[in-house]
Order: sequence, then structure tokens, then C-alpha cells
Amino acid sequence: MSFNDDAVQLTNDDASSCKLSAVQRGYWKDSYISFFYENPERKSPEISIGYYTRVHSVRYLLKEFIKKTEGNCQIVNLGAGYDTTYWNLKDDSLTPKSFIEVDFPAVTMKKCRIIKEQMDLLEKLQSEEDDIQLSRTEIHSNDYHLVSADIRELKQLEAKLQSCRIDTNLPTVFITECVLVYLDMEYSDRLLKWISTKFPTSAFINYEQVNMEDRFGEVMIVNLKRRNTELRGVEACQSVDTQINRFKRNGWKNVECLEMTNVYRNLSTSEKQRLEKLERFDEKDLLDQLLEHYCLMWANSDSNSVNLSDVTITDFT
Ligand SMILES: C[S@@+](CC[C@H](N)C(=O)[O-])C[C@H]1O[C@@H](n2cnc3c(N)ncnc32)[C@H](O)[C@@H]1O
Repeated sequence: MSFNDDAVQLTNDDASSCKLSAVQRGYWKDSYISFFYENPERKSPEISIGYYTRVHSVRYLLKEFIKKTEGNCQIVNLGAGYDTTYWNLKDDSLTPKSFIEVDFPAVTMKKCRIIKEQMDLLEKLQSEEDDIQLSRTEIHSNDYHLVSADIRELKQLEAKLQSCRIDTNLPTVFITECVLVYLDMEYSDRLLKWISTKFPTSAFINYEQVNMEDRFGEVMIVNLKRRNTELRGVEACQSVDTQINRFKRNGWKNVECLEMTNVYRNLSTSEKQRLEKLERFDEKDLLDQLLEHYCLMWANSDSNSVNLSDVTITDFT
């Protein structure tokens, strides 16, 4: 664990704060995020629309995956932070066999404590078949697991996933939402290769920066450095092509990547009108600039023919 790792963990607070600020202003509904963060600073409409597009598109892909596999699947969220997708999927009655979240122990410890204290969160984990096992940093229930691991350490990660009774032959979708960019390239390469080798029927959703070689990218890098956070994996974030190539060279067969500008464009007209009317919003250029610098990636390897390649990232309606 390094000084930089401590700062990286704090990025989870930023993400939670932005998500809660947007939820409080009606961009989307989430009954659980407020348990994990309090009193967020009010964020600008562009940031909230950006977060809406991120959350909506990632959840859309997850739901398609669950429907395609009829729930006979696993979800593994790497660097999950305070993500609340598990609880939101439960409310939509769209549940995988197993939902596994991984983060550094300092983050999982706080998440564990909050889940233990909040009945609304804890009762969703209840299951008749199994008792819930709770430790200081980890939770194991019938279908939800929260474990602490450094995802750069593959032996450690593998052991932790095994403690969640992961089945490498079951269709599995991995998520990294603003996570790979914090890892040195050698680590993200190894991680992606390991997953593509170990899980024959799998998909990967990656959301993170793109087009980072321009002035906007430079400013973001400088601002984060001031907060001791380095984007060590920024080399893969130069363009949509560098993002795609990283996955292809690490064994992923079908790979699609879209700038968030295009993801936003593909939302329905009525949804965009709703979002743009929620608050006084007159900085369309700023929104475009923000969306141009993030991307959504959908990769899959489909050895057991669940037809994962039918799921595409061009339709989010
Ligand atoms: C920007 S936050 C995103 C959190 C969550 N994915 C979201 O989108 O709300 C990045 C998360 O990745 C986690 N993370 C970064 N590097 C990691 C590593 N090597 N091992 C485990 N977790 C890591 C951080 O602790 C943090 O919670």
C-alpha cells in the first residue's frame, strides 16, 4: 500500500458525492446511496448529467447481461467503492446468482460498517438458505459478497474470489468504473489477461477517461497530481483505439468502445429533455467537453454461446 493508494481510495468519496448530489436533484432514483455519503457539495448540471449517463449505461449493460443469462450469472465489481447497484438490482428483481464487490480493505471496512448499521441495506442480503458472515472488512451472504483485495495482486484476488465460491464456468461480467486508470499498465494488462483466460464466458464493462492527450486531459492530470493521485494507466486512455487495443491484446475477442458523447446521443430524446430541464442548464459546450473525455467499453468472450455479442452499446433506451 503506498501514499498514492491512500489518495486513490479517496476518489471513492468524490464519486459518491457526485452521485448523491445528482440523485438529490432527481437525475435518477437511488434509495441507498445516501446511507454511504452525507451532505454532498452541490455539483453542476453537466457533472450530474455526466454521472447519470455513466450510471444509466453501466446498469443497462448489466441488466442486459442478467436477462441474457436468465440470472444464471455472476457480477464482479472491481474497485466497487460505495457502489449501490446490488441493492438497486434487487429492487428491480433482476438478480445474478452472485454479486461480488472488491476494494482495498480501508474502503470495504467502511462499507461493511455502514451495511451492518443500516437495516434497509442489510435486510436485502438476508437469505433463508445461508447465514450472513460478517467480519470487519468482509461480508458473505447467499448472493452478495464484499471482499478486500488489491486487484493488482492476482493471487490474492483469486483467493478472495474463491472465498466467494465463484464459479469460473458460469457467465460472469466484470465491472471497473473509474478504476483501471489508477493502475500501472502492467497490472491492468495482467488483470485483463487473467480474467479472459480464467473465465471462458465473460464480459467486461469498463468506464473511464479517454482522449486524454489534449489540454483538458493535461489539466485533469495536473489537478489530480496536486491531490497526490496519479493516473498511472493514462497510456490506455489516449483514444478509443488505445482502449480497444488494450483489451484485444489481453485476449478479449469482441470489444466495443464509445465516447460518452455518443452514449448520451443514443439516449431517448425525452430522457435528454428531462435531464436538461431539471436545473438551469446553459453550458452545453461544457457537457460536450466532459462527455468527450470519458468512454464506455463492452468486451466479451463467449465460449459457451450465451450470445453476449447480441448486447451492444449503441442502444440505451
Ligand atoms: C473513483 S473510485 C470508483 C468507485 C466505484 N467504482 C464507482 O464508480 O463509484 C475508484 C475505486 O477503485 C478502488 N481501487 C483503486 N485501485 C485499487 C486496487 N489496486 N485494488 C482495489 N481497489 C482499488 C479505490 O479504492 C476506489 O474505491
